Amino acid sequence: VQAVETLSVKEAIESRRSIRKFKPEPIPREELDEILRLASFAPSAWNLQPWRFIVVTDPSLKEALQAAANNQPQVTSAPAVILLASDMEDVLEHVDKVAHPSLPPEQQQRFADMIRGTFGGQSVEQRGAWAAAQCYIALGFLLIAAQSMGYATVPMLGFDPVRVREILGLPDHVQLPAMVPIGRPAEEGRSRHRHRLEDIVTYR
Ligand SMILES: Cc1cc2nc3c(=O)[nH]c(=O)nc-3n(C[C@H](O)[C@H](O)[C@H](O)COP(=O)(O)O)c2cc1C
Repeated sequence: VQAVETLSVKEAIESRRSIRKFKPEPIPREELDEILRLASFAPSAWNLQPWRFIVVTDPSLKEALQAAANNQPQVTSAPAVILLASDMEDVLEHVDKVAHPSLPPEQQQRFADMIRGTFGGQSVEQRGAWAAAQCYIALGFLLIAAQSMGYATVPMLGFDPVRVREILGLPDHVQLPAMVPIGRPAEEGRSRHRHRLEDIVTYR
């Protein structure tokens, strides 16, 4: 990736706003890869990394996604739409990939057995919900990474996951923590409105 100017973490957090109108210029593959590489550095419990990213740029697929998202126009306005998916069943199938390579083989084996034991007793829905919560950490990283590289985003939950799974050919167990239209901004977005710190923070 070229050494283009990037915002610091603080600058990216300060300047990020949800943007719902985008310039049509396509996002170079290397830049999307870089944003997703940074998002994938998010921490997760036991380092299970249940997030999977599906990048949609095909215009007819974007139209279908928009129809499944209450026709919210930011979906087709964006040159790319990132579906943040959570696949805990895939995690459990490939749990051997997760144990840290620095561990001796028998400890890696014990780790895999422990993970399978822990989640084996839960329903697919239960462990799916647990994994989807981990994915929101990656969502935060993704939004800030994109912003630092000059790309705007809007995280979205206003869509029908059943229809989106159908459009993308995803199995039923895959959860969809967010849909994220992304591109260069073509509007300023709303000014920030947040609770005052004293309303949400206590020190004890
Ligand atoms: C999980 C989640 C789901 C959201 N879903 C939608 C959505 O479906 N449509 C939309 O326009 N904005 C959506 N938003 C954006 C919020 O409205 C926005 O983040 C919030 O108003 C704060 O504004 P800001 O992002 O500009 O700081 C969503 C945000 C989050 C985090």
